[in-house]
Amino acid sequence: MYSSKITGMGFYVPDTIVTNDDLSKIMDTNDMWIQERTGIKERRWIQKGSEDTSAVMGAKAARIAIERAGLEKEDIDFIVFATLSPDYYFPGGGVMVQDLLDMPTVGALDVRNQCSGFVYSMSVADQFIKTGMYKNILVIGAEYHSNGLDKTTRGRTVAVLFGDGAGAVVLSRNKQKDKGVLSTHLHSQGKFAKELSVTKPNIRNWIPYLMENKDDLSYYPYMDGQKVFKHAIVRFSEAIQEGLQANNLTADDIDLFIPHQANLRITQFVQRRFKLSDDQVYSNIQKYGNTTAASIPIALCEAWEKGRIKDGDLIVIAAFGSGFTWGSIVIRW
Ligand code: UT7
Repeated sequence: MYSSKITGMGFYVPDTIVTNDDLSKIMDTNDMWIQERTGIKERRWIQKGSEDTSAVMGAKAARIAIERAGLEKEDIDFIVFATLSPDYYFPGGGVMVQDLLDMPTVGALDVRNQCSGFVYSMSVADQFIKTGMYKNILVIGAEYHSNGLDKTTRGRTVAVLFGDGAGAVVLSRNKQKDKGVLSTHLHSQGKFAKELSVTKPNIRNWIPYLMENKDDLSYYPYMDGQKVFKHAIVRFSEAIQEGLQANNLTADDIDLFIPHQANLRITQFVQRRFKLSDDQVYSNIQKYGNTTAASIPIALCEAWEKGRIKDGDLIVIAAFGSGFTWGSIVIRW
């Protein structure tokens, strides 16, 4: 049986920086509230008129990842694309990346698991490599949140959290048995589906419904923040523990923990729970906000670019979010 390892990474974020002070000019919020509750200082938002979309940003990140893997686009056997903000209701973003990168007609799969989307996508790609079916898989997380947020005081609890961006990795067949993806674990609990959701338009309430019900705001994201927070700290911890246990490891073995960047307070809670030092944890929510499916590949790539990931390091990745869905990845680099 084969195993998989990350051979290339890339990320792309739009140029435009939106600070907390910028937001306080368009809604009743302030820098202190946002920083104290979330750790976020600024985020990137696509500007009107830009060509960027989830697929376009995903393709930009993917180009960098393929080049850093030392591969050509023709070497990629499959695409897994995670987003909650697709360019179209259908088809998905994976096929658009195939086209934007002018790739051969390889398969392209979309994953709809929101904040856990990248963890789910990596798990899917890992299985395809383990079975020997594919050698090199492009795994992308990309989000264009800014155009779908309620940027008024009414939507402030959600709007201040989210940023746009994309990250990509190339997951490749691995010859070294003791390195690469050691495990992935995935979970869901659909009874909480509506706690963090966009419920319209849906197939029962399509465009004519929205035209007749202009005051129905369910096409904006809804979140019961406190409920999500409480579940997040429990599920993050469980997912990490499950990954460590499956590999006979402990928190002391972690060289770098890369959480989905949902809220700095969630990360700090998990850090305390596992008694991790600051050197063992990577956070960049301060600069990018919550970029959902893109947050882990952006953080992973940025950490690697900064020299925070070295050969032989144990990297633990965990995510929790809408669904609820959650999971972890353990990697020996
Ligand atoms: O990535 C997917 C997973 N997502 C998460 O894990 C997010 C989890 N939840 C959270 O991170 C937090 O719940 C939030 C950051 C979303 C909110 O923090 P909170 O400490 O739970 O605040 P809250 O919603 O309980 O609101 C507290 C107060 C309220 O005012 P009152 O009722 O106490 O007068 C809100 O109206 O803060 C007010 N508020 C704001 N004030 C200024 C809510 N949003 C804002 C805002 N600026 N943007």
